[in-house]
Amino acid sequence: MTVSALECRSVSKIFGGVLAVDDVSLTVPSGSVSALIGPNGAGKTTLFNVTTNLFAPTSGEVSFFGKNVAGLSSHHIAALGVIRTFQTARVFPGMTTIENILSGAHLHVRTSVASQMLWSRTARQEERCLTEKADALLDMIGLGHARDVAATDLPIGAQKLVEVVRALMAKPKLLLLDEPAAGLNDRETAELAVFLRAICDAGTSIIVVEHNMSLVMDVADLVFVLDAGRLIASGAPQDIQRDPKVIEAYLSRPEGQIA
Ligand SMILES: Nc1ncnc2c1ncn2[C@@H]1O[C@H](COP(=O)(O)OP(=O)(O)O)[C@@H](O)[C@H]1O
Ligand SMILES: [Mg+2]
Repeated sequence: MTVSALECRSVSKIFGGVLAVDDVSLTVPSGSVSALIGPNGAGKTTLFNVTTNLFAPTSGEVSFFGKNVAGLSSHHIAALGVIRTFQTARVFPGMTTIENILSGAHLHVRTSVASQMLWSRTARQEERCLTEKADALLDMIGLGHARDVAATDLPIGAQKLVEVVRALMAKPKLLLLDEPAAGLNDRETAELAVFLRAICDAGTSIIVVEHNMSLVMDVADLVFVLDAGRLIASGAPQDIQRDPKVIEAYLSRPEGQIA
């Protein structure tokens, strides 16, 4: 039996009086692209935050690849191979695009700090390999031209892509992406879908929180739908699109938007 990438068992999170995540149980298989969708305020970001222990859940249990993460720091969870991005792009100021991306590799650099200080041959080789990988990934997302630009000067959509690539440099087993297509136009979103599929095919499972339904339909193997903190549906994208509970959840919103 293959181990699931993520398992949530009866996970809840209460903020003050608000039940942001309400008794959510779900299993995300490894080797897949899964999407987490739902109207604004449904609890998608909070579910990411509690699974990665940015906040502890009020109740319930979370496992990544069969390992219960109760009490583990976000840093320990990253060391398990679970890397996330944030809804609000967080590129590092004062660094170029390529420097931002290379900073994501620190989890994976084998040479010791001492040898890096001495700038040994191994360290130089490793640095060169990482830079080549970072440049190749930048080209794949169409940002090769922005390599040496201050990352904070890029448009927001491009900053979000830089964050995805930075996360990939840590060679994650599971990537959690919070609205990576926000700020991208339709063509860029379609390119992102192809990129995410390639990442998955190369061995990294993905869970993506997404507003853009066309991205979800293009790329997701499995869709989970949250509404007011509760998991109201899960399944293949075509079935989710037709699910009366999902349609109702979206139509009852003033904006009537599938997010
Ligand atoms: N840090 C927080 N403190 C208090 N309430 C929060 C916090 N984060 C989220 N919430 C509340 O939890 C609910 C779910 O929010 P969120 O997870 O951001 O939804 P989504 O990502 O689906 O739009 C909302 O009612 C929101 O106001
Ligand atoms: Mg959110």
